[in-house]
Amino acid sequence: MPKPQSPLPINFDRVGYKPSKEFAKQAHIGSASELVKINSAAAKNIEKFWAAQADTLVWQKPYREILRWKHPRAEWFVGGKLNVSENCLDVHLQTWRKNKAAIIWESEDGNVRTLTYQQLHSEVCKAANALKGLGVKPNDVVAIYMGMVPEAIIAMQACARIGAIHNVVFGGFSSEALRERINDSKATVLITQDGALRRNEILPLKKTADEAIKKCPSIQHVLVVQRTGLPTSLARGRDIWWHEALAAASTECAPTSLPSEHPLFILYTSGSTGKPKGILHTSAGYITQVKYTTNVVFDMKDTDVYFCTADVGWITGHSYVAYGPLACGATILLYEGGPMCPTPGRFWELIDKHRVTIFYTAPTAIRAFMKAGDSWPLRHKLDSLRLLGTVGEPINPEAWRWYHSLIGRERCPIVDTWWQTETGSIMISPIPGATTTFPGTATKPLPGLMIDVVRKDGSSCKVGEGGLLVIKHPWPSMARTIFGDFSRYVKTYWSEFPKTKDCSGWYFTGDGAKKDKLGNIWIIGRVDDVVNVSGHRLGTAEIESALVGHKTVAEAAVVARRDDIKGNVLVAFVTLRNTSKKLDLKKLQKELKDHVGEEIGRFAAPNEIRFAEALPKTRSGKIMRRLLREIVSGNTITGDTSTLEDFSVLEHLRFDEE
Ligand code: WTA
Repeated sequence: MPKPQSPLPINFDRVGYKPSKEFAKQAHIGSASELVKINSAAAKNIEKFWAAQADTLVWQKPYREILRWKHPRAEWFVGGKLNVSENCLDVHLQTWRKNKAAIIWESEDGNVRTLTYQQLHSEVCKAANALKGLGVKPNDVVAIYMGMVPEAIIAMQACARIGAIHNVVFGGFSSEALRERINDSKATVLITQDGALRRNEILPLKKTADEAIKKCPSIQHVLVVQRTGLPTSLARGRDIWWHEALAAASTECAPTSLPSEHPLFILYTSGSTGKPKGILHTSAGYITQVKYTTNVVFDMKDTDVYFCTADVGWITGHSYVAYGPLACGATILLYEGGPMCPTPGRFWELIDKHRVTIFYTAPTAIRAFMKAGDSWPLRHKLDSLRLLGTVGEPINPEAWRWYHSLIGRERCPIVDTWWQTETGSIMISPIPGATTTFPGTATKPLPGLMIDVVRKDGSSCKVGEGGLLVIKHPWPSMARTIFGDFSRYVKTYWSEFPKTKDCSGWYFTGDGAKKDKLGNIWIIGRVDDVVNVSGHRLGTAEIESALVGHKTVAEAAVVARRDDIKGNVLVAFVTLRNTSKKLDLKKLQKELKDHVGEEIGRFAAPNEIRFAEALPKTRSGKIMRRLLREIVSGNTITGDTSTLEDFSVLEHLRFDEE
């Protein structure tokens, strides 16, 4: 495991940004001393703290036990029954929020559609009834392969309503990747669109899905949302138009009463092997923590218009688009298209037009906007904004300051939120009315969480010392397993710091971090083979396995190189199979990139492909990734290379000149 190295200039003495008096005055948590009180009460009794949050939900049957923890198996709110969709929709219908906008959707081509809570409820009920009509029962898996349209949220909520487990697959994934995720989860129904509009292009989602399900024996039906009018073929008996199925369905569908630990969704994410992990989240604990964090981190109010730019295909789009804000009764702005479409001013235009108050995006997007130039945001007032957020990767202080001044106009606090697909909700973040922030740190763990930076032997790191980020106590929205593979779950997350007589057994995040003297946590980045490229989480092993699937490739190693905009880009080192044919390497580079595009998705294609006669390996045959990382970052090779199997390999690296 590589030792974490900080890409960030950590200056422990820097003066931080205090919340303004105006912000603090109106905030849910409005002072540092109030936060200290909440934190210490929560630390004294973690279970009681989370129970108080769970008690804001509507329960169909009260729980008997807050936490049953048999390491590493957690059950929260044991014995209780509720329905997540009821807690996102029905709870608002008896209040004035009934006619409040739940979703304001703007398409890439500028059309606006608004759904009130009542309207969203009706659509969700109709979709739930349509799914029931197709034979979907609790615990059945429904795959969702869609773009950013309200129907994606309706589909997720409909599954939650009837206890079906959704498996949302990001619309940028290829048919191969979709097939793998459908087959692993054994989904019986797929919901997709004729096409998705993105960057002035129509992505033919149904066509890609058809290709995928040629070899998906579990799929019985496909529901197709008509979005673009792209000519689409429907397989008789299997495929149904969404609008036809919903037209025939009732607008009433009682929420199914489900046990707290009933599975809510599977979401595939990358790990350090070639096979993606189906992270499983369950109901009560998930919605408890997602709702609580939406409230306190985004300081969510009824007057807010909240705009999160994450795609529903990723965890942020689940927790902080489809669930958390609805559980809080918020108004969400949902935008279909590309951020640069038609100009780099699109988000700023949307913010002014819809009077957005809270804006949540990724550092890679911020860096792209910085590069596009200050004139784009400066053309807009942005005076409705009151709070900004970031997620997905460490934010470099330069981008933080740009965001703070050009977008927040030095008025809006920034919440840099650290969390993962596996944690389900935000874990480390400022509380905007209470925390002094510093560019580049997500600051401190939220109340009710026990997080630390430790050495390999489990002892806590000193101030400034790089170590591993661990979570020491179970939390409500934690992943319960990797779907169908509990032992992989245990091995991946619970084996680095196993339960022993000296250690209660901790969750290992895969991230390296440092603490400063104020207790702020500075995330350094992954210490495993997971890489963040433009905010997309990718496993290098997945890309390697796609590459070696190509007929010309014998072996491949993929490493990351830091990039000013994307955070990281991927560089693949490839050795070719023996062949008598002379290969055109330039052509092959393109072919290999396209091949990764087909196997996983275009967003996963390496930036550079380099060919080598052999890859540098240790005596035990492990590829020396550290060495490759150093080569791509242009550093001189340092450290011990005496275990290199083939030194000549270094001379034989050819560069991709694209
Ligand atoms: C990284 C995204 C620094 C981290 C919600 C983590 C961050 C991985 C931050 C999870 C942040 C996420 N600062 N790094 N604020 N947020 N990360 O599963 O390496 O797509 O382990 O979840 O992103 O990525 P995932």
